Amino acid sequence: MDRSLVEKYASPVPRYTSYPTAPHFSADVSTSTYSDWLRALPKGASASLYVHIPYCDRLCWFCACHTKQTRQYDPVARYLKALDAEIASISALAGNRLRVTALHFGGGSPTLLQADDILALGGRLRDSFAFAPDAEISVEMDPNDMDEARFDALAAIGMTRASLGVQDFNERVQQAINREQTFEQTKWVVDAVRARGVHSVNLDMLYGLPHQTLASIEATTEKVLSLRPDRIALFGYAHVPWMKKHQTMIDEALLPDAAARLEQAEAASRLILAAGYEPVGMDHFALLEDSLAVATRSGTLRRNFQGYTTDQADALLGLGASSIGLLPQGYVQNMPATGEYERRVLAGGLATVRGVALSDADHMRAWVIERLMCDFSVSRCELLSRFGEPARAVIAEAELLAANDRDGIFARAGNRFVVTDRGKPFVRSIAAHFDAYLGQGTARHSVAV
Ligand SMILES: C[S@@+](CC[C@H](N)C(=O)[O-])C[C@H]1O[C@@H](n2cnc3c(N)ncnc32)[C@H](O)[C@@H]1O
Ligand code: SF4
Repeated sequence: MDRSLVEKYASPVPRYTSYPTAPHFSADVSTSTYSDWLRALPKGASASLYVHIPYCDRLCWFCACHTKQTRQYDPVARYLKALDAEIASISALAGNRLRVTALHFGGGSPTLLQADDILALGGRLRDSFAFAPDAEISVEMDPNDMDEARFDALAAIGMTRASLGVQDFNERVQQAINREQTFEQTKWVVDAVRARGVHSVNLDMLYGLPHQTLASIEATTEKVLSLRPDRIALFGYAHVPWMKKHQTMIDEALLPDAAARLEQAEAASRLILAAGYEPVGMDHFALLEDSLAVATRSGTLRRNFQGYTTDQADALLGLGASSIGLLPQGYVQNMPATGEYERRVLAGGLATVRGVALSDADHMRAWVIERLMCDFSVSRCELLSRFGEPARAVIAEAELLAANDRDGIFARAGNRFVVTDRGKPFVRSIAAHFDAYLGQGTARHSVAV
């Protein structure tokens, strides 16, 4: 590994879970834009639903998710009433025309919901939308929340996938990030969801945390592998204390530098690959037969706000405070502040506060960036056949980037432009070359590696 390369490409860039990225959304997209876009969805269109629960009963200091800690359940119960109102509004605008192929509960911690509320929310969604019989229902879980009643409720609403936060099993690391969680508790949750028919379990790991060493990361990786998860997400800790005040509780002096982060990522990856997993995009791994690995092999992997996905639905509808949706016409985002979100939806309206209507050029660059992030390559012919003459400008940019590359990270190979193996850790920086918005506005991002 070349240290100068790491330093050169570690400058902050977006994670490209959308294009344009969220800092470029504007108030030009309003509730009436969203209503029009929903009404325009054709009968039989497929949709995936994302439901955001912005509450946790603990606050991990590393966390960059849109969530807040609550010790009482009242705010959660109030929020669920608002969610019901939003579900009713969206369903009135589009519900009877859509076929739901996927439902994802994210957060925060959806598992903080009481079992009765999980059942009621699942029932409300099924009453409001037509679900495909094979719809995937996935749930982000905080293993410390779980009990038998919650497992049963999630099984009853049809959960097929579970994603558990692990981060790191080392006690010293856990104390430094305020996230205590035993291996035994995690194993108990993995076994319990599998016993209830969940066919795919994902575990989230983090590198770049305080006190992590190569040895500690390897020990955590071995423990994770002993549970034989179907998928593993290996995220680099994004330190963004200007956005997330509680991250100031993490001592910056203890954070590894860019080169050490890359070594940690590589050490964990080596063990995961040796255990028979396939790499998926820049930070995921999956067992050979898991649908993420299958999609990677067939070039159909997608990337959205939930990260890498196999979701091919025509529309992604976001429900809940801060949720982001994607329709054929563009992105919409809900009011992030829970109180204001509740006020708007309980008054019978939608909660859209910003978004972006996609131009033809946006669609083209979004496609290029998504293919780079998913396949590490882009086909020149496919670009031309999908986007016609305007694609020539992007092709010229790619030619120039490949021609000027002295680091061996991006190359022209026949009909394709490829991110080389050496370039893969820096794929976000390579994707950023095709981002026409970068540098506009005041957005700050986390480091690229
Ligand atoms: C909503 S949480 C997962 C579910 C549950 N709340 C939990 O923590 O177990 C989503 C995941 O995002 C990742 N994450 C959160 N903050 C992060 C950060 N600052 N940098 C990188 N990944 C982060 C963690 O791996 C975490 O498991
Ligand atoms: S990591 Fe999960 S449990 Fe911890 S604060 Fe973030 S969302 Fe909540």
